[in-house]
Amino acid sequence: MHLSSVEEKMLAGEEGYAVQKNMQILTALGDIFGADKMIPVSSVQVAGVSYYNLGDAGLEYLETLATTGAKARVKTTLNPAGMDLENWRELGINAEFARKQERVIRAFTNMGVIPSCTCTPYLVGNEPARGNHIAWSESSAVTYANSVLGAMTNREGGPSALAAAITGRTPAYGMHLEENRKPQVRINVETRLTVVPEFGALGYAVGKKIGPKIPLFVGIEAASVEQLKSLCASIATYGGTALFHMHDPTYLQNETSGETLTITRTDIEGALRALNDEASEVDFVALGCPHCTLEEIRRIAGLLEGRKVTREFWICTARQTMNEANKEGYVEKIRAAGAKFACDTCMAVAPLKGRFKVLATDSAKACYYGRGTNDFKTRIGSIDECVNAAVTGKWS
Ligand code: F3S
Repeated sequence: MHLSSVEEKMLAGEEGYAVQKNMQILTALGDIFGADKMIPVSSVQVAGVSYYNLGDAGLEYLETLATTGAKARVKTTLNPAGMDLENWRELGINAEFARKQERVIRAFTNMGVIPSCTCTPYLVGNEPARGNHIAWSESSAVTYANSVLGAMTNREGGPSALAAAITGRTPAYGMHLEENRKPQVRINVETRLTVVPEFGALGYAVGKKIGPKIPLFVGIEAASVEQLKSLCASIATYGGTALFHMHDPTYLQNETSGETLTITRTDIEGALRALNDEASEVDFVALGCPHCTLEEIRRIAGLLEGRKVTREFWICTARQTMNEANKEGYVEKIRAAGAKFACDTCMAVAPLKGRFKVLATDSAKACYYGRGTNDFKTRIGSIDECVNAAVTGKWS
């Protein structure tokens, strides 16, 4: 791989241990994937923030980097942590976990990383423009950045994204090269999708069939931010793709020469059945996977007005989004009903194993982690159905 003279100096240790170590990570990755050079990045999103996932080894790694002078050179934001950084007690997090999680966040902030702690960085000020090269490592956000924003990023791991932040570079391979971004499978969607879980079901159905190939969706007339973020999270989780095309005139005209797949109402209903376990009672309701938008919070507040929840109910969102919702009076209404905000965290990265049995959610991705990480049974439905479940404890 060709390195510039500045990059050679980084690798030789002339900018210190932290820069050298991270340049070694990136050159190793570039060699593995056949990159011929490094490219500058304008934005980074680092996943692997929860102490639940990092453990002591991850914490030690981050603290070593922070104390040896590592500094982010570009705008760098963080994925959700294992707890609400302010209200962790209310969410039932123990003090020992909280202390460790706070050390993780301190290490990141000492490196100049913005502790946004959200998987929707594009909603809170880290929104790259079309064609920007970036290094993001939250799979739903990666797919959103590539597919909706038109930015260019590989699906980074936490350490390689952090290395990109510290060096300002990433190896030029994969999604950074135009020739690798062409659609490979045409997906004819022959049913009208309305609510968010149906977009999650679409991601499930397509992801299971095509794996990491790049789909071109045809037949979806319009999709909201909420629907798109759900599709991005689901297709990345169940298939592994980092990019899809939809409403992109370049590819609608050129189309794909290869495979075609048709999705009908039967496929969507089959996916929803697969994501729903047999359980008529729920004890945990969580919305906001990926993190809730202001519009979703507005809707939840409206549905909860004058009602009381009887089950643990988390609204997962970015702290900045909750602050905006607070100005609109939504937070007060939600809290008056007994529901809780889970800012900076989510139902998948908080330490919840053993606390609940049945999760109700509107997110196909939350079902995956609810089952896999926490052994929950899952029920998936619209926001309305989830709010009803939080109030009645029943899934109907
Ligand atoms: Fe975000 Fe957690 Fe879902 S990080 S995409 S809310 S699993």
